[in-house]
Amino acid sequence: MSRNALKLRVPTRRITFSPSSAKKPKETKTYASNDHVRDRGEAFPFPCRMAITRQIGDVLVPISIKDALASAGPVASVFVQGWVRTRRDAKDFSFIELNDGSSLRNLQIIATSSLPNYSAVQRLITGASVTVRGALAASQGKGQSWEVIADEVTIVGPSDDSYPLQKKGHTPEFLREIAHLRPRSNLFGSVFRVRSRLAFAVHQFFQERGFFYLNSPIITGSDCEGAGELFRVTTLNPSDPPRKSNGEIDYEKDFFARATYLTVSGQLEAEAFASALSKVYTFGPTFRAENSNTSRHANEFWMIEPEMAFTDLNGNMDLAEEIVKYLIHDVRENCPDELELFAKFVDKELLGRLDFVVDRPFQRITYADGIELLKKSNEKFEFPVEYGSNLQSEHERWLTEKHCKCPVTVFNYPKEIKPFYMRLNDDNRTVTAMDLLVPGIGEIVGGSQREERLSVLEASMRRHQMDPNDYKWYLDLRRYGTVPHAGFGLGFERMLMFVSGVSNIRDVIPFARTPGSAEF
Ligand code: 4AD
Ligand code: MG
Repeated sequence: MSRNALKLRVPTRRITFSPSSAKKPKETKTYASNDHVRDRGEAFPFPCRMAITRQIGDVLVPISIKDALASAGPVASVFVQGWVRTRRDAKDFSFIELNDGSSLRNLQIIATSSLPNYSAVQRLITGASVTVRGALAASQGKGQSWEVIADEVTIVGPSDDSYPLQKKGHTPEFLREIAHLRPRSNLFGSVFRVRSRLAFAVHQFFQERGFFYLNSPIITGSDCEGAGELFRVTTLNPSDPPRKSNGEIDYEKDFFARATYLTVSGQLEAEAFASALSKVYTFGPTFRAENSNTSRHANEFWMIEPEMAFTDLNGNMDLAEEIVKYLIHDVRENCPDELELFAKFVDKELLGRLDFVVDRPFQRITYADGIELLKKSNEKFEFPVEYGSNLQSEHERWLTEKHCKCPVTVFNYPKEIKPFYMRLNDDNRTVTAMDLLVPGIGEIVGGSQREERLSVLEASMRRHQMDPNDYKWYLDLRRYGTVPHAGFGLGFERMLMFVSGVSNIRDVIPFARTPGSAEF
């Protein structure tokens, strides 16, 4: 195929911009929806634009590869930029597979031997960065509708043979060791695009329902969950801290004049705001110094915590089920390529499971009934099943995977195994706790109706060896206009694991923090 033959396949009209008023095109041809840019007086053939605009020759606006591949027609002159995934030579051409992370798909670039730097192009290897100017033309190759016939290939940053991401598949364990490069792989690029979409959908879900977004503090003086799994925040000199007369470290001399930690949950602060704005949610990082080296625990993870005034346990369970379904539905709609990749390479049953979860109602059972079912199951569990002890991951998974065969919300747990803030039921034995369990993961949501009665809350604090004087502000919420209220925490990474089928939490966090590991 000669270069001229390739050129014949593209229209002759060009998008040109005058150098003096770079925003005004001299002549334009619109190939796809451009309604959202028309008000700026611009016509642009692609659905979205990148932030950088540059002027190289006639072509000014770099477009994402996603947009290029979605073009409604050929375009005489486009400007794309990205990283070389592969390159191979034909007789008079070099084929470059270019990816810029905007989607899973690569754009094929045809670099012909007439390019002045063709010999440099022929030395391009995987990992190098390039910019390409050329014509977007219908592709004759399989698997792609468009390709770019390059007029100019500029090598921005070379790569070399030591580049660890080669065409052959790599294991997630290997890729974890190169967490700074793994987003360039198909799998991790997809995971992190879905993560971004999922975060957007979280905000959309709450904003559509009249919730206000609350930024709860990251440094806090309270241990919300009472589990003592706190990372301390201090500026005291570790080798010579000030001490009280009894030898204990004197945190009154510390930066905040008290002991402080990284937050394990924004709930207590969210309760204050729900008592004013009615419906709020937090969505931010939380930290737990728990030494659990499992596939679903991280020491730094993101949590979504709605809190609602005038709401009881049932309203809380309704919202938890609704958001899980909503997020699955949203990702199913908006990330089809990524989900297809996961279904092919990560979890063959993924799509069927997601559809099943969206279509069917979730189940609800009390903790007491859950224990009975587990006892009668005849299943050999590593941990004993006993009323009054926490459900282990294996128990949770049996309930959701084997018994209910769908997500299940377990509620009304014994008060002894749940934190101080959960509302005591009339039986005086259980609290209005709820855990939503999903197949493959177990607990994805933990929440409760909160104890809104001042005296009952104070008694609960004492039972948990807490001094009510340390939580004066929290108790004030019960002194002034207390209302029934409820909320929960949805683990963002666990949600992402569920929608992607990725089985290790380390693989859905950009740079995971787990025991013994905080590289990068
Ligand atoms: O059940 P948890 O501990 O609940 C709370 O922190 C409440 N204060 C939330 C609230 O009511 N506002 O945590 C909530 C969820 C869990 O169900 C799980 O999905 C996730 O947070 N989670 C973790 N995710 C990853 N790594 C960990 N170490 C996690 N611990 C909890
Ligand atoms: Mg929990």
